[in-house]
Amino acid sequence: MTETDADGGGRPSGHRDPGPGTADLRRVGANPDFWYPVALSGRVCSRRVVATAFAGERIALYRGESGTVHALEDRCAHRQVPLSMGVVEGETLRCRYHAWAYRGDGRISQIPYLSKGDGRPPPGVRGYAVREAYGLVFVFPGDPEKAAVTALPELPTYGSPKYKTMTFSRTVRCHYSFMHENLLDMNHQFLHQGVVGRLHPKLLEYRTGPRSVEARYLFTHAGGKRNRGASLLAGEGIGGGSRDVMTIRTEYPYQTLDLVPEHAERPAFSLWAAYVPEDAEQRTCHAYGLLMIEKPGIPGALHLAWPLIRRFIERVFAEDRMAVEAEQRAWEEQGEDRNHEVFPLILDVREVLRANGVPLHPQAAACGTASACDAAAPMPVLHSAGPGATAGPESSAAPPGG
Ligand code: FES
Ligand SMILES: [Fe+2]
Repeated sequence: MTETDADGGGRPSGHRDPGPGTADLRRVGANPDFWYPVALSGRVCSRRVVATAFAGERIALYRGESGTVHALEDRCAHRQVPLSMGVVEGETLRCRYHAWAYRGDGRISQIPYLSKGDGRPPPGVRGYAVREAYGLVFVFPGDPEKAAVTALPELPTYGSPKYKTMTFSRTVRCHYSFMHENLLDMNHQFLHQGVVGRLHPKLLEYRTGPRSVEARYLFTHAGGKRNRGASLLAGEGIGGGSRDVMTIRTEYPYQTLDLVPEHAERPAFSLWAAYVPEDAEQRTCHAYGLLMIEKPGIPGALHLAWPLIRRFIERVFAEDRMAVEAEQRAWEEQGEDRNHEVFPLILDVREVLRANGVPLHPQAAACGTASACDAAAPMPVLHSAGPGATAGPESSAAPPGG
């Protein structure tokens, strides 16, 4: 896809309708060759094991004595009991059942009762590359060899003394693509008019690249009451009188939003978000959001405003969640995407998500249409242990429920 600029009227020169025969985006999987947040750092306390997942791969996270977080396939190589039920000992995780112990890379370090003549034990389970940043635990669910050469997302505003970060973590019952579309398509302010009043977003321009879509909107307020939290979040912005420029960007697989009030030099707030598929069908995602809010000149003012800002964001998010989960339900009832999108930049972001994603049902894709093969397709396993993983043949990621 080439870079596409909108003309003065906000219409792109490269607008096209993908038409019939295009893969149903809701059947496109998230590309595992990126760093995905799978837990809040604070949840993975010392010596505690936390169960999480990426696209149906169950993952056990634990923090060893050294403070390092490890991520293992959540399935004991012995009898498939979840390792998230296990016990942390130093840097190892011991299965709760027969006490097999695993190192942080997934290799078995001890089988307490193993003696000469017993069967040969398996090498272990899959260990995932892990990084902690921005108060989140990231894992690399894809090709392990790519982990070292794939950068974590960069958030220059996080940790800046001028900003304070509010963290969000919520499960949303929809395909991750609905979340990207929701944030990029600001024409849905009607949904939020009870919270922000009547907001008029005007698309100024947008750009599309091979991995990204970026849209700039001008927001003006056309009346109606707005929530106090909105005022506190952006001063006179988002409907308070000034004209704000909001820039929203999908940079696969993440999304960002910056709001810069008129005459301001830097954003009043910046949001970074990731939508991490939880189940193998990818019909549920976990939304992680970091909202970095500029500190006002008065010391302590933001601290006092914090609960009101959070309540405002939670209300807006609840409305968005209601809409995207309704979209997902409609998709499931119809068995396919039957919507008629008219907004060019949303057609573009769908293309970006399709082009950068991975097949959800490789077997079905080989049949021509995904829906035609669904009945016959076995439970999908997106990726098994890759080359260099420490596990043997037993280490394929378990499908959900399997
Ligand atoms: S099931 Fe884990 S040690 Fe037996
Ligand atoms: Fe919204």
